[in-house]
Amino acid sequence: MPTFGGIGAPASSGCTACAADAGADPRVARVRELLAAKNVLLAPMAGVTEAPFRGICKRFGAGLTYTEMVSATGLHHSPDSPTARKLLSYHPAEVPYGVQLFGADPTMMAEQAAAILARYPDTVALVDINMGCPVAKVANKGEGAGLMRTPERAAEVVAAVVAAVDVPVTVKFRKGFGPEDDTAVEFALAMEDAGVAAVAVHGRTRAQFYHGEADWDVIARVKAALTVPVIGSGDVLTAAAAKAMLDETGCDAVMAARGAQGNPWIFREARALIDHGETLPPPTWYERIEMAREHAAALVEFSGERAVVRMRKHVAWYIHGMPGASHVREKVNACRSHAELDRLLTEYRAYLEGL
Ligand SMILES: Cc1cc2nc3c(=O)[nH]c(=O)nc-3n(C[C@H](O)[C@H](O)[C@H](O)COP(=O)(O)O)c2cc1C
Repeated sequence: MPTFGGIGAPASSGCTACAADAGADPRVARVRELLAAKNVLLAPMAGVTEAPFRGICKRFGAGLTYTEMVSATGLHHSPDSPTARKLLSYHPAEVPYGVQLFGADPTMMAEQAAAILARYPDTVALVDINMGCPVAKVANKGEGAGLMRTPERAAEVVAAVVAAVDVPVTVKFRKGFGPEDDTAVEFALAMEDAGVAAVAVHGRTRAQFYHGEADWDVIARVKAALTVPVIGSGDVLTAAAAKAMLDETGCDAVMAARGAQGNPWIFREARALIDHGETLPPPTWYERIEMAREHAAALVEFSGERAVVRMRKHVAWYIHGMPGASHVREKVNACRSHAELDRLLTEYRAYLEGL
């Protein structure tokens, strides 16, 4: 039976004005409450963090989860397209979750944020605005990380969305745009002035995309400058790194992105380390294969047989470094059906058990 939430929920209430003092703003208090519950979050990743995977990560102890980034322009033109429906679907285990929107038109962003809240009045915790996407076709249009080059426009987008919804509005941005840019602190202050309830900072510039080491110092500087909660992102690849970022930057929460690929255990490990100072053993080969099988079954239930193609990268992440992984990867890439993929993974499990 489908276990995913979809479109068609009843209409929501209207919006309320935000308090002038960020510290007293009920929306800021709400984000603090969400982050305090569990401070290692699953970062949004387009093409990776679909609802089934978010549900798995939540079960392993992830704090807040987010949808993949959704285009406000796309929603405006095709609000009921299969893509829009999938992107806005949620796993029941992750409620309440964040919806991430991207776009640079304040009116369209506000309209689409309000439309989403009208459809999902009881499940969406917050609206996050993507100001970090580095992809040329997004950033060159002034959207995503492109908004870091036009802070006034970014502030207009935030103010419009804040006025349109009654849930917290947050932004996720980078250290800066160009290779030498370090504009995150002033950008963050401008976003706070515009009414955001929290910010997430990825410690790389747009020019870096995902290369090089993330600068955690910029996260610490943004945290020191702001009143609203700050979420750190960049190189949270292990439970130890999650704890280290919290300790070293003083930020309120951290996000795991690539560290969660094929590795939902990172959240369980991070919770054990942060809450009890305990280092858990890594998942066994058996657990990793069984998780790949579970993930595949859930993704196929969510999006049909074609999910087998989208599972290829996930399987590669799950089995990375295991004996015979490259050979299995080749076979996975040739799989045409879920039954075939599941059989292959079961045979691989039996092979490993015999080693
Ligand atoms: C495949 C992929 C897709 C991503 N998609 C998004 C996205 O939709 N929205 C967003 O804000 N960030 C996105 N990011 C950025 C991550 O959320 C995160 O900030 C970044 O990867 C740094 O964290 P890491 O070094 O731990 O991977 C994406 C990253 C990756 C690797």
